[in-house]
Amino acid sequence: YRRLRVALLGAGAVGSQVARLLLKHSGELADRAGATLELAGIAVRNLDAPREGDLPRELFTTDAESLIVGADIVIELMGGIEPARTYLLQAINSGADVVTANKALLATHGPEIFDAADQVGAEVYYEAAAAGAIPIIRPLRDSLAGDRVQRIMGIVNGTTNYILDRMDTEGAEFADVLADAQRLGYAEADPTADVEGFDAAQKAAILASLAFHTTVPLESVHREGITSIDKTMMDAARHAGYVVKLLAVCERLGDESEESISVRVYPALVDRSHPLASVHGANNAVFVQAEAAGNLMFYGAGAGGVQTASAVLGDVVSAARRHIAGGVGVGESTLANLPIVDIGRV
Ligand code: HSE
Repeated sequence: YRRLRVALLGAGAVGSQVARLLLKHSGELADRAGATLELAGIAVRNLDAPREGDLPRELFTTDAESLIVGADIVIELMGGIEPARTYLLQAINSGADVVTANKALLATHGPEIFDAADQVGAEVYYEAAAAGAIPIIRPLRDSLAGDRVQRIMGIVNGTTNYILDRMDTEGAEFADVLADAQRLGYAEADPTADVEGFDAAQKAAILASLAFHTTVPLESVHREGITSIDKTMMDAARHAGYVVKLLAVCERLGDESEESISVRVYPALVDRSHPLASVHGANNAVFVQAEAAGNLMFYGAGAGGVQTASAVLGDVVSAARRHIAGGVGVGESTLANLPIVDIGRV
């Protein structure tokens, strides 16, 4: 196989899992990508920070810029706007394809990043930027591109769903469960982003932009968090047959001649019979209503390092396949290595 140099920026909860899985499954990933994915290095701010996993120390560097030069694929998992924005633009301009989970960056500087990529023919992959492990970016961008999405109702923040779920099912106190969500690696570095709805608003802007084929600026997303929800409200909701969920609702309003888009994040009362009411723990779900397809629901782990790493690695394989397109036949190599198993009638 041809070797592709992969640069990883960031080694937090997601980054360290991406590195571990890239090394652990290098053979299988090479077969699927049609290229050997060589982890060239991991750029971090502090070489001595404690981190998960048993990653070879020689991979770590504080020199992100040198790592980016010569990389075929750059994975940005640092989060935040700067220096992530500068590094991504550098990577794009040096000819790399980029993979990012950075919802804050895409929700605020998406057009700048996408335009830069368009100009040089690079691709930006961001399946992990919304709803963790759940495949939702490609379905909205590709699978539903021939349909007309009318509305999305999503639980897109794992931390707040975890908190609300434990308040609902155990009568737990907000502060106690927030501490647990942080310990389990669901919460953002600053959990205000989760509990005040900023994280969900960023994801809503990204999903709405894809679903409605436009750019939804973050400033136009109405946002309310869950800090005002207390036990009394949870109890009242339960007695009335509802559960409180932090929802991201993105919808078309008006008719086709005079249409507008509304995107809002707020704690909502969800009827217990609705599928969104059964989303427990740090799981996410995105309920999509489309003109032709009808109702679709995408469900799964919305937060967590290893789960989100799955979406990042899928993007890395896609980027590698694109990079070598015209080179090694991807389908051919994948099929040739798989035994055919008779699973009988289903
Ligand atoms: N803090 C985020 C959440 C992580 O709880 O959903 C995934 O984006």
